[in-house]
Amino acid sequence: MGTSIAVAGKGGTGKTTLAALVVLELTRRGLGPVLVIDADPDANLGTILGLEVEKTIGDLREEVLEEIKNFPPGMSKADYVEAGLHQIIEETPKFDLITMGRGEGSGCYCYLNTLVRKFSEELFPSYKWIVMDNEAGLEHISRRTTSNINNLLIVVNDNPISLNTAKSILELSTKLKNSIDNLYIITNMVKDERKAELMNRIKDLDVEYLGDIPYDNLLGDAIFNNNPLADLKGSIAVERISKILDKIGG
Ligand SMILES: Nc1ncnc2c1ncn2[C@@H]1O[C@H](COP(=O)(O)OP(=O)(O)OP(=O)(O)O)[C@@H](O)[C@H]1O
Ligand SMILES: [Mg+2]
Repeated sequence: MGTSIAVAGKGGTGKTTLAALVVLELTRRGLGPVLVIDADPDANLGTILGLEVEKTIGDLREEVLEEIKNFPPGMSKADYVEAGLHQIIEETPKFDLITMGRGEGSGCYCYLNTLVRKFSEELFPSYKWIVMDNEAGLEHISRRTTSNINNLLIVVNDNPISLNTAKSILELSTKLKNSIDNLYIITNMVKDERKAELMNRIKDLDVEYLGDIPYDNLLGDAIFNNNPLADLKGSIAVERISKILDKIGG
């Protein structure tokens, strides 16, 4: 079974960017293929990794509900979902991407969500690493549309509200008991003069601190110019992500 790393935290703290750097570092180390899951309904992990996403799990759910009347005899919802899921996986030589897309509409999706989870979990053993980006907050995790998480990286920046979000995530994870093995805090884009005070506040959270990623001009420019992040050279953010992966066994 692969080891999973999920990234969570307040909106705009850098979750998607850091998830992308984790994927690229794992593949740079030859630890691919990595399964990448974009669980943010406002999906953009694929884009930052340079992929065009054609179809999401949300699209598949809609399709099942629309097409169900036209299913050929003998075809079950499960068969349709399984076949559809294979179409959704965007494959590249180094990683495969599944984009969850929009969540639930008006219909009841519980059964479909269970099917999606079942089939995604069946994929997990084919990968050594699974990296998941989340929406701000922890909707997917709280509704258990995602399976067990080995390492949850909670991203905090110098907005104090991001610490409140971290706290809520920690509280939620306690309620979920066994579904998250290890929780960690990461700081991102924090100004030097604020670091000491922020570290004091993080101590109060009573959770392991994994490292700091400074604001990185090279990374910022690469994103602004749509340059592939895999080509970044001498990036402090990439260097720090690498140290963080060392700590969690990457
Ligand atoms: N260490 C960093 N150095 C430079 N720029 C960064 C860094 N981390 C994140 N950014 C930039 O900050 C912005 C927000 O990052 P990102 O989209 O990854 O946040 P997010 O937490 O995923 O946001 P959302 O909650 O909207 O999904 C982006 O423009 C990104 O390029
Ligand atoms: Mg994001």
